[in-house]
Amino acid sequence: MCFRLQITMTEFDAMKENLTEYGQEHLLKYWEELSEDQRCLLTKDIEELNLEEVNEFFARATSSLAEENLKLDDKMEPVREEQYLSISTTDKKQLERYNEKGLEQIADNKVGVLLMAGGQGTRLGFAFPKGMFNVGLPSNKSLFRIQAERILKLQRLAHDLTGKSGRIAWYIMTSEHTMYPTKKYFEENNYFGLSPDDILMFEQGSLPCYDFEGKILLDQKYHVAKAPDGNGGLYRALRDRGILDDMERRGVSYLHAHSVDNILTKVADPVFVGYCAEQNADCAAKVVEKSHPNEAVGVVCQVDGKYQVVEYSEITQHTAELQKPNGKLVFNAGNICNHLFTSDFLRKIGSTFEKELKLHVAKKKIPFVDETGTRCNPEKPNGIKIEKFVFDVFQFAEHFVTVEVPRDEEFSALKNADSAGKDCASTARADIYRLHRKYIEAAGGTVEGTECEISPLLSYAGENLEAVVHGQIFSSPVHLMAQGECSDISNTE
Ligand code: UD1
Repeated sequence: MCFRLQITMTEFDAMKENLTEYGQEHLLKYWEELSEDQRCLLTKDIEELNLEEVNEFFARATSSLAEENLKLDDKMEPVREEQYLSISTTDKKQLERYNEKGLEQIADNKVGVLLMAGGQGTRLGFAFPKGMFNVGLPSNKSLFRIQAERILKLQRLAHDLTGKSGRIAWYIMTSEHTMYPTKKYFEENNYFGLSPDDILMFEQGSLPCYDFEGKILLDQKYHVAKAPDGNGGLYRALRDRGILDDMERRGVSYLHAHSVDNILTKVADPVFVGYCAEQNADCAAKVVEKSHPNEAVGVVCQVDGKYQVVEYSEITQHTAELQKPNGKLVFNAGNICNHLFTSDFLRKIGSTFEKELKLHVAKKKIPFVDETGTRCNPEKPNGIKIEKFVFDVFQFAEHFVTVEVPRDEEFSALKNADSAGKDCASTARADIYRLHRKYIEAAGGTVEGTECEISPLLSYAGENLEAVVHGQIFSSPVHLMAQGECSDISNTE
């Protein structure tokens, strides 16, 4: 559907002149062949481009390509100990204090969640947004439903503790491809029992795709080739889509930002919130201990005294393998795309630092319309996509902290189809089964067999299970639900 009926000659001439000034006039090459509707579509695409910025992005991004093989070893230092909390070595009572502090913030409406759900999930081979994926648990719950129910449960726990009915604002960042199906899915599922007023979906920005000379590619004769601007696009989108203003209206001070694909994510984790609040942290990252030196995750560390994530490709094998006297890796803090920001910090990024964010470049095979007007699907990389990364703001924090969480309790990412054998639906299921079995055993119950699932509506993180499981023996498949919870959701998901 086009937004205009016709493009006048004057409008066309102005557009052409503007494109010529920035060396992108080839985008109009097929104008004469286009229908009126197609001309409108192309005009809309072109008008959305800030040509000056788009050209500057290309120049900046490609200059970083030259640094691609630079190793950062000499400049790197691990996170300072006083800014590092390890959950597994922290006293239980202390963790309970953080938990209560976090629940109090939730009860006071001060906590929001930012779900990064704009990725295209290409590796998973699933045609819908990743959050709609059902990994095959006994409940058939999708990732979105599991996350929604964790939010619901936390609101109840916060109420039980304080008597106040605080609500968690859920901001869901989508992209051009994921917005419509995500919206529809939430509507069809009645927002999973949450109030629609507390769920705000917004679209992240996109950036054009370029050839290696900086010319913007056409995906169709009437359509510019574009891709989402990376999960670091959230800072611009939060500002431009009115989300920072919404946070201010609601009084949200802490935003827990996490990826859509980790089935174990403790959404709005009160321990994380409580610890950050107590530390007066403005920016934080959860990490897991790297499983081995070559695990393909970035590490949180300091470079020239500033916090950042260093990709595994940016350090040598020697540095990746460095060990502390206790045998642990020196650069051990594996990033899991799970962060916390204060609203003040996000405002500061939006108003000042967003334009300085690093631009990451990926050489890709990008479908395009060639010189002869034929649409081609290239077999080797023919251009670049530019992305911003969510963690590139760490350097701007005044008080950055890192929380190391146990992998078996908080990290199991769904990246691949089952054939890959790792980070797939089977491993996600197995990780839930193992953790939920551990919760039942810790509460004095026994599980026979492997399949074991506890509804988030019954228990968020293993709490309050004694009354239900103590002294009981359960046979697989186990599916513990909250009172009144409906077990048949397979028709809708
Ligand atoms: C991400 C982290 C990586 C970490 C790994 C752990 C980044 C840039 N990288 O890598 O350091 O070790 O997770 O699993 O954070 N997304 C958007 N919009 C986009 C692109 C992505 O919302 O334009 C979302 C995805 O939907 C997903 C999250 O960001 O929820 C992570 O994106 P993904 O591409 O899966 O990152 P990884 O390469 O796995």
